[in-house]
Amino acid sequence: MNVNNEEKFILAIETSCDETGLCLLSVNRKYPDTEITIHANELASQIEDHQEYGGVFPSLAKRLHGENLPVLLEKILQEVDTQPIEMVSAEKEEQIRLWLDRHDELADNLFRIIHEHGLPQLDAVAVTVGPGLEPTLWVGINIARSLALLLDTELIPVNHMEGHLISGLAPDSISDGDTHQLSPIAFPAVALLVSGGHTELIRVDGICQYEKIGQTRDDAAGEAFDKVGRLLGLPYPAGPYVSELAAQAQTDQGEKMKDEEFSLPRPMIDSDNLDFSFSGLKTAAARKIEAQNPLSDRERAVFARELEEAIVEVLVSKTTQALAKTGAETLLVGGGVSANKTLRTQLECIKDVSLHISPLTLAGDNAVMIGLAAAMNYDSSIDPETDISANSRLSL
Ligand code: KG4
Ligand code: ZN
Repeated sequence: MNVNNEEKFILAIETSCDETGLCLLSVNRKYPDTEITIHANELASQIEDHQEYGGVFPSLAKRLHGENLPVLLEKILQEVDTQPIEMVSAEKEEQIRLWLDRHDELADNLFRIIHEHGLPQLDAVAVTVGPGLEPTLWVGINIARSLALLLDTELIPVNHMEGHLISGLAPDSISDGDTHQLSPIAFPAVALLVSGGHTELIRVDGICQYEKIGQTRDDAAGEAFDKVGRLLGLPYPAGPYVSELAAQAQTDQGEKMKDEEFSLPRPMIDSDNLDFSFSGLKTAAARKIEAQNPLSDRERAVFARELEEAIVEVLVSKTTQALAKTGAETLLVGGGVSANKTLRTQLECIKDVSLHISPLTLAGDNAVMIGLAAAMNYDSSIDPETDISANSRLSL
């Protein structure tokens, strides 16, 4: 990163799934001395809109990102210093309207907002280009390159999973307005990335030097929480609800309630590789729930606890193996599932490792993590008119 103590301002955009995120942050100095300041940060969750479908409905998500982005942009512009936008050339306007053509009134809304509020002085616009849902990624990409073109700035394409990984370097105290240093860590490190679509172990030899050393062969950990949680009658996304229910499965004396009938497999826990598999767990859980239907409240709680324990045990065991295999003494953890308290507590028990887990506020999808990953990739910025694509299967 060629920041050389000079503060660089980045507007970051996240639209890979069902959270619309927009954040303005500044960064100075190269890692490991990186200091960041969040100047404005907005997030609009679509969770309630998708709940009736029991999962994310891509075309609805795309429409909602298109509606949310102008609202969030307007909020951000009210929070930071801006400058009026001079006349936009006919060519630029034509290009932007072409990019935003498929997103209903997005172009009209964008021009209205920037003429009303102006824009901040920026050095780059960063955007998630994958992995994620292709139609929703495109909304972010098209608005990001429109803003970059309007501002004559560069565009930084960001891998969503790198955002989850780098968020592990953010301090727990991270808050808007203050300047924070990202944690300096020793390499090699291992990163455990656990989200709704991914479960991965990454060997990290330096910032932007990644090698995938383990991944799920079928469902992701978050998906297992969500799918089995749904069978327990919990709303989408079920992960946090499973965790809440699991916490109720204890006696007044604080002892864990267990039920042998509900014991679930720990898939691939003894395999001699670092891969995961959660679909068998889901099938076994479905069979047990069906066999015992209807479950009492106590049984649902005990079942949720067993599910949480099965998933967490596998994640912690494979992570421990990854640390041993790589000889790494640093562990980075990120992704929505990293908000799980049982997982956090058990990861803290791994001996001789320096643990850097995403602050709870950055565990789920958000634009701050995209801004942080962009700061690390500042030198890879491109011209906004470069032909880039959404890549739903982009890998680290
Ligand atoms: O990273 P994320 O916000 O979105 C993706 O990139 O997929 O992760 C969402 C996933 C969902 O599966 C959700 O159920 C899970 O994270 N999750 C949790 C918890 N909070 C969110 N899973 C278990 N326990 C939690 N506390
Ligand atoms: Zn995510």
